[in-house]
This record gives sequence, structure tokens and C-alpha cells, in this order.
Amino acid sequence: MKKIVSMCGIVAVTGYKKAIPLLIDGLKKLEYRGYDSAGIAVINSETKEIICNKAEGKLKNLICNVSHTNIEGTIGIGHTRWATHGKPEVKNAHPHVDNSGKVAVVQNGIIENYQELKNRLEKDGVVFHSDTDTEVIPHLIQKELIALNKLKLDNNGSTLLVAVRNVISDLEGSYALAILWAGAPESLVVARKQAPLIIGIGEGEFICASDTPAIANLTKIILPMEDEEIALLTPLGIEIYDSNNERQYRNPISLQISEQVIDKMNFKHYMLKEIYDQPDTAKNWLEKYLVKDSNTGKLEVNYPFDTKFFESIERIEIVACGTSKNAAMVGSYLLQQFSGIPTNVFYASEFRYSPPPLLPNTLTIGVTQSGETADTIAAINMEIKRRSLMSEKRYKPNILAITNRVESSIGRKTSNIIDICAGTEIGVAATKTFFAQLLSFYGLAIKFAQIKGSQSNQNIRELISDLVQLPPLVEELLEKHNKSSAKLAHDFFNVKDVIFLGRGINYPIALEGALKLKEISYIHAAGYPAGEMKHGPIALLDKKVPVISIATPGEVFDKVISNAQEAKARDAYLIGVAPDYSGTEIFDYLMTIPLTSEWISPLISIIPLQLLSYHIAAHRGLDVDQPRNLAKSVTVE
Ligand code: G6P
Repeated sequence: MKKIVSMCGIVAVTGYKKAIPLLIDGLKKLEYRGYDSAGIAVINSETKEIICNKAEGKLKNLICNVSHTNIEGTIGIGHTRWATHGKPEVKNAHPHVDNSGKVAVVQNGIIENYQELKNRLEKDGVVFHSDTDTEVIPHLIQKELIALNKLKLDNNGSTLLVAVRNVISDLEGSYALAILWAGAPESLVVARKQAPLIIGIGEGEFICASDTPAIANLTKIILPMEDEEIALLTPLGIEIYDSNNERQYRNPISLQISEQVIDKMNFKHYMLKEIYDQPDTAKNWLEKYLVKDSNTGKLEVNYPFDTKFFESIERIEIVACGTSKNAAMVGSYLLQQFSGIPTNVFYASEFRYSPPPLLPNTLTIGVTQSGETADTIAAINMEIKRRSLMSEKRYKPNILAITNRVESSIGRKTSNIIDICAGTEIGVAATKTFFAQLLSFYGLAIKFAQIKGSQSNQNIRELISDLVQLPPLVEELLEKHNKSSAKLAHDFFNVKDVIFLGRGINYPIALEGALKLKEISYIHAAGYPAGEMKHGPIALLDKKVPVISIATPGEVFDKVISNAQEAKARDAYLIGVAPDYSGTEIFDYLMTIPLTSEWISPLISIIPLQLLSYHIAAHRGLDVDQPRNLAKSVTVE
């Protein structure tokens, strides 16, 4: 079955202010969730008709459309879309409207049984105008409204609420919805199931959105909706109901984020700026998490949970996606090899359907910069649930989140949070958040090594002092490699394939180097553990395939050099990410990095690789900050 998936950002507002500027401002903050197409619908204040405006491509196209109209309305919904199936065309852009033009819907999620619902509606003569799963919803609501009117309910927001409640009981999958109905021109109905939705309480208006940045400009008072809740919003108030139709009363909370003005400075792209932010990322992290012990005067890792938290842990499982998974793999190496704790890393999308058997005293770590990645959240939810079913204390939910967004969905799942403090990252390809996730794992590894006694004090001191040296080291690296990687990019921007090799603690860096290049330059790239190259990938090698090898002195240095020799013997052009060290003369080109301890080498070796990917993509004239088909936060599975 062809699955039509939409993953997106939604925003909705009702009140006394003009809705369109609020919707557009909200959508700007949500564009990281998708930028294939965008749309808004408002109820015209005079005619009470729903007016829709949609545009293919980036939000700026919608803004341009809207600037040529003079619609006025104080209630509306908006959407920015990311699609995997169903082309990014105007007809598939949200809002979707029923055939009477009276119901408009925006959705973030997947309606898994949409085909069955669509077949049923088509049998009743409903004509569809898009290829999306979402379009069934306005048609179903309209049908329900007709049925309810037969029951003589008032034409007001409560009628819409009942209609939506009846319809969502037939929907399978996950969704966040916002719905307008011309029959109740001041009422908005919003609902969520396994997709985030937050209500903001303004002065004279309510705003509802997929994520807090879309709200923060208007208000800092929010009410996050709980799973499977539905709400009616009018300029006069909010009614929230749970899935049993029980009215919910709870106090709003205040949003802890400040509206950050993100300036590109003099950089051509946000990604380059964010690569250059990394010395500060390191400084911020070190200042926050390395504090002087008042007794010994020595720097200690200061995480916001007590020793007991670490003591009981016997094993660790980490769930993550994309770049966060690569950071987790470095973390796993550290936790096993430095701290001596058995640790496994899983793709969250695999873990949620085939988790390992539940073992006692296991810590589950969810790593996600956005805090919203659907698979990671689902994996964490599943883990919380299956542990809560066990009566013994040693199975109790031991969950830790490593995130850049403490106020996000993952942040609301657990009180054990490491805030990576990387600041807002605009570039879709993660750079400084990866760096800060790595740092957070170093902190954990140090904590566990101390508490479990798996490393000598001296080793722990050395690692702490290496971390302290990072900011100037990274600064130097940036200085050194920015120009040279731009030059290298000039020679390689047209290659078709690139192989990245690394071993041990730098194997995940080979994966991350390849992922960065793929994401932004659209060049095929694959990362391998260097020792595996001879078991298949070597067949790909010839002089047209550059091989980038990370070789940092330590346990596996000689092995990596031998593997690089094997590639050279097949005519591959060899690029080394390595210090000037005996053995590295085999590289045709050396991206020289300083000689550091092997433990901290990933924090160093990633820098030239980020720069190289950036310059290759920029040289190809691509949209570095918003690469095609990607989104910063993937909120569907
Ligand atoms: C998307 C982004 C990646 C990111 C991944 C996981 O695919 O494009 O850059 O690594 O999601 O995101 P998370 O927010 O969970 O770290």
C-alpha cells in the first residue's frame, strides 16, 4: 500500500488581533519541520467564509502570495509541510478543505487508515482533490456536522468539538490537528495523538502550535496538551478534554525560553556560522558542567542528578536517530571502554518495534537535539511503559534525556535531563548540537568512571583537563581548515562517491562525516569501520573514489594506516584526517589535526569533516541550510 505521509508544523490562532501576521510569524519558526510547501486559512471577518492560500516550496512563496491579498480575519490556521510521498504540490499543501468549503484542517502526522476512510467517503460520492492522508479529515468532519445538525445541536464551537471528537475516534495513527469551521467563526478545535501540540495564552488571543518557538513571540504562558486530548479555543477561553471526554483543568506554565535573535553574522550560511560557534559551545558546556569542588578545588562534572542515580546502573541502552545516533555511538564507546558499563546503541525506529529483553538496572538514554523526533519519543515512551509494568524496583523507569530543548516532548518525559546548551541551531544538518552531545557523553563517562571506580583518578583528571583545552584547540582548527577545505572542495565537488573510514572511537566520526556530506551535498557517501572495508566496500574503489580516513594515534592507529594502504593499492585518492605523525605520509592529502589523547580525538576529527562537507555543498551552489527533502525535526515515524 502506498503510504502518504505528511510531517509538518502547524499553528492556529483565535482572538482579536489580525491572524495572518501571527500565523506567518509562527510558520517562520516552524519551517525547520519541513519546507516543501506552506499554507494558511482564515475566516474572513466580514463574510465569515474560509479563505485559503497555499504555495509550493519555501514559506517565502506563501508570504509573497499573502502580501498580494487583502484578507482580514482574526482566526486562522497555518501549516508548513514535509512530505515523503505525495508530491510537494499546491494541491497537497495544507490546509485541506471539504467540498462545501466550510471546514479547513491542518495536520501533522500520519493517518494510517486513510485509504479505508477515503474508499468509504468516495463510495458516498465525496470527490478528493489531493493525494494526502489528511484530506479525509475535513470531509469526515463535514459529514459529521451534517449528522449533528440533524440532531439539532447549536451551530457553535461545541458542535465542532463533538464532530471532531467523533471523527478522531475513527482515525488510526498519530496526529496533531487544528480545525476551522465557518459555522463557528470564532472557534478553533485542536487535537493531538502522539504528535506535539502546545497552547499559548496571549492577551486577547489563544495560539496553538507544534512547538514553543512559534508561540514565544506572542506569549510565554503555555499549556502543553497531553496525549489524546482535544480542545476548543475561542477568544473567551479554552476547554480541554481527555480521551474519556472528561474536562481537564490545570494551571498554565511559563515558557523558559527567550526569543533569541539569530544572526548569520558575516557568514554565508547558518551552517558555517554554527560550525564556527563550536569553540563557544565547548566554553558554555564546560562552564555549566565542570565546576570546582569546594573541598578539593578540583574540577568535577556537575550533572543535575545525585550519585544514587549512577550507582544502581549496571547497563545502558541508548536510542537516537541520525546525527544523534552517531553521537550516541561515541558515547557508547566511552561508556564501555572508559567507564566499563555494558552499553548498546539502537536506532530508535528499530528499538521501538524490537527492543532487547528488559534487564534490571538498565538506564535508557534518549538522545535528540530537537527533543521531538517521533521515533526517539516513541522508543522512550515504550521503555517507560514496559518498565512500569514490572513490579520489582530494579526495573523502575531509569530514563535520561540528552537534548538541546529541555522544554520539548522528551524533556517532559523525564526529570533526568542533560541540557546540551548548544543554543539554537538553524542549519538542518546538525553540527554544534552534535559537538555538544559528544561533550555530554564525556561528562557521563567521567561520572560513571568515578562512581564505578573503573578508571584511575589520574586518567579521569587527564580527560577533564583535555576537555578544558578544547575551546582554543577547536578555534585553531577552524582557522587552519576553513580555507584549505574550501580548496579541497574545489577539487572534489564533482565526485560521485566518497568513502569515510575510521576505527574504534572514530568509527562513528566516519559515519557522521559521511552523513554530513550526503545531507547537504547530495553526493553518495558511506562510512565504514576501516577494518570492514575489505569485506565489500573495497570493490567500489578506483581513482574516482576518494577515501577519507581518520587516523588518530592510539589503540588502532597502525590498523587504520594499513587499511588506508589497502585503499591506496586500489588507486583511491587518500585523504587523511590525522596529526602530522609517522605513518601519515601515505595520505595524498592530509587534513592535519593536533595530536591529542585518543579519548578526545572525535571532538577534534569531526571539525575538518564538517568544514569539508560544507564547502563541497556551497561550491555546488546548494541550499546548505535547508537541504532538499530533509527537516530539522522529524515528527513522524
Ligand atoms: C533529522 C535531521 C538530522 C537529525 C535527526 C535526528 O533527520 O535532519 O540532522 O540528526 O533528525 O534529530 P534529533 O532532533 O532527534 O537529534
